Amino acid sequence: MSPRRREWVKEHIDTETQHWLDLDAKHFLRQSLSTPCLNVLSHCEGTTLTDLQGRHFMDFHGNNVHQVGFANRRVINAITDQMEKLAFCTRRYTNIPAIRLAEKLAQLAPGNLNKILLAPGGTTAVGMALKLARLATGRFKTISMWDSFHGASLDTISVGGEAIFRRDIGPLLPGTEHVPPPDCYRCLWGCGDHCTFKCVDYIEYVLDKEGDVAALIAETVRSTSVIPPRGYWERVRSACDKHGTLLILDEIPHCLGRTGKMFTCENFDVVPDMLVIGKGLGGGIFPLAALIARDELDIASDRALGHYTHEKNPVACAAALATIECLEEERLSANAKTIGGYAMERLRHMMQQHRSIGAVRGLGLLMGIELVRDRETKEPAGEEAEEVMYSALSRGLSFKVTMGNIITLTPALTITRQEMDKALDILDHCLNEAEGESI
Ligand SMILES: Cc1ncc(COP(=O)(O)O)c(C=O)c1O
Repeated sequence: MSPRRREWVKEHIDTETQHWLDLDAKHFLRQSLSTPCLNVLSHCEGTTLTDLQGRHFMDFHGNNVHQVGFANRRVINAITDQMEKLAFCTRRYTNIPAIRLAEKLAQLAPGNLNKILLAPGGTTAVGMALKLARLATGRFKTISMWDSFHGASLDTISVGGEAIFRRDIGPLLPGTEHVPPPDCYRCLWGCGDHCTFKCVDYIEYVLDKEGDVAALIAETVRSTSVIPPRGYWERVRSACDKHGTLLILDEIPHCLGRTGKMFTCENFDVVPDMLVIGKGLGGGIFPLAALIARDELDIASDRALGHYTHEKNPVACAAALATIECLEEERLSANAKTIGGYAMERLRHMMQQHRSIGAVRGLGLLMGIELVRDRETKEPAGEEAEEVMYSALSRGLSFKVTMGNIITLTPALTITRQEMDKALDILDHCLNEAEGESI
């Protein structure tokens, strides 16, 4: 509840909306990042959210579930159809949508990533991957990245690297080593644009010193749009191979087309031992995630890795099948590449006009704009980023600011060039305003 946020609420929230916000605050446990809520939504469709007061917002966050657009008709039809036939699948039975989905994911996934386990959310799918890595290697240690996010449960915050999840919560999983992420803009080794892969040397050093690391788990690219340089993942892959360590790539938010490829790792010529996907897999309607492991890791027939109640929910699987069909038929990965490429050109141009932009990064329709007070010192411009965010919201553009100063843009993959132009015009205007006032 910063002063800027209070100001936005005062200006934009009417009595009825405030009534519902007060009731929300009364009945839900408070938690960082989720409460207090900003506004009350009534509809979502395509790229857009509508609030109770009838205002429309282009949603450039969407929690990364809206690959095929909100309320996609094909997904809704598949869901309603499936609900009329088989609405749930009791454990020990299977169903055709689940089998067809597993077959489709194996067909789409690179290399010999052919064996699937479904779960009701990304966090639980990451948990299954961590358990499988322990069973497959007979080891328990992991390496993961500082500032990463893999979910909010105790096992996933242990490998995650964000203080807001880890602080004051007591002992986490043992053996969870952390290393710096491949952040070219703020490289700890000062490589800048000429990466010397010191960060990979450090991973090798830790693998070597520990000697018995079960798995390295990381987001292939991070939602703060930290995009590793070419060659990074190949090097990490070979370091893992050398040390008998499995590579788990978490692509929960960016799988299924956002980066211009069905799977993010396909941009980097690397095939992990396990791939975890989720979020948009359920078409932006159903919670669904999947662990996709290589054939040889099918070694745990005598253990329960997941065993979740909604493991093979036929309605969720029907939603996923319709989502994939839609991605393929409407060539949404290609659209992500084209519109994302166009947006990056505009952002690079905007960087020349706006002194507050320290860096722009992007891969398909995942883009990040890092705001700084000074391009030399790279001091984060947190307050200014917040100002731009609320001012854009007032003009109908919603997005998330990550790490305090990185404007992160992840629209629906169905977005048109006109919609992208409209959003970037708003951003341009808001940056002008913020720079006029304070930067
Ligand atoms: C990279 C990454 N991993 C894991 C998760 C957790 O997924 P879920 O919220 O579906 O449990 C998220 C969610 O934001 C994520 O971004």
